[in-house]
Amino acid sequence: TSGGSDAMKRRAGESAAETVDDGDVVGLGTGSTAAHAIRAIGARVDGGLDVRGVATSFASRELAVEAGIPLRDLDEVTGPDAGGIDVAIDGADRVALGDGVADRVRGTDRVVGDLIKGGGGAHAREKLVDSAADRFVVVADPSKETEILDRPVPVEVLPSARGVVADAVRAAGGEATLRRAERKDGPVVTDNGNLLLDCEFGEIPDPEALATTLATTPGVLEHGLFVGLADEIHVGTAEGVRILET
Ligand code: A5P
Repeated sequence: TSGGSDAMKRRAGESAAETVDDGDVVGLGTGSTAAHAIRAIGARVDGGLDVRGVATSFASRELAVEAGIPLRDLDEVTGPDAGGIDVAIDGADRVALGDGVADRVRGTDRVVGDLIKGGGGAHAREKLVDSAADRFVVVADPSKETEILDRPVPVEVLPSARGVVADAVRAAGGEATLRRAERKDGPVVTDNGNLLLDCEFGEIPDPEALATTLATTPGVLEHGLFVGLADEIHVGTAEGVRILET
């Protein structure tokens, strides 16, 4: 869904796939970088690794089937009597590393790791799976890195709520644009049958506050701000992989 070099994305995906253990239930993210992780997990399954995958989209399910990864539905692996998701591996459109201030305050070399997701419109199921996982590993390339989140936030809305949510976004200082399909007259319809508003807010210095505003707007099914969810970020580079902890 975006630029960056495919070789870098592949390094990130393969590095994250290496962190999967035998017996794990694995959340399978969406997008071109997560696709590399899915293929790499598939190759490990061929070699005898015993895992179950939980897809985050029509596209990631298709890839997982092709890669030979046995799949489970989210509701089979979550809930009081289930074992949960051990690790989720997913891409991102933007990864905030912070300006160093938060790191100094916390006295660690950890990064902020807040994300914007939903470039492929899959963020609702991605957030369900990624936040349910014990460990959420983000795979990215350097083109995704930023100090402060600064791109439009994808928001999935119930079809009838499009105007109501656009008004609420405007009241919050943003501008909502309906995402239109490229090869069909009309809007993009998500895997869940809803519409997408790409909401431009400029720089987002306080993603947590904006996340709360969006989440509490009636008609919003899910927004693409992933605040405080990432545990590790594997950034594929020209030389190798940089692994950051949040
Ligand atoms: C899907 O809706 C998105 O959240 C993707 O995870 C994100 O767009 C990353 O995709 P790429 O790895 O293709 O950039």
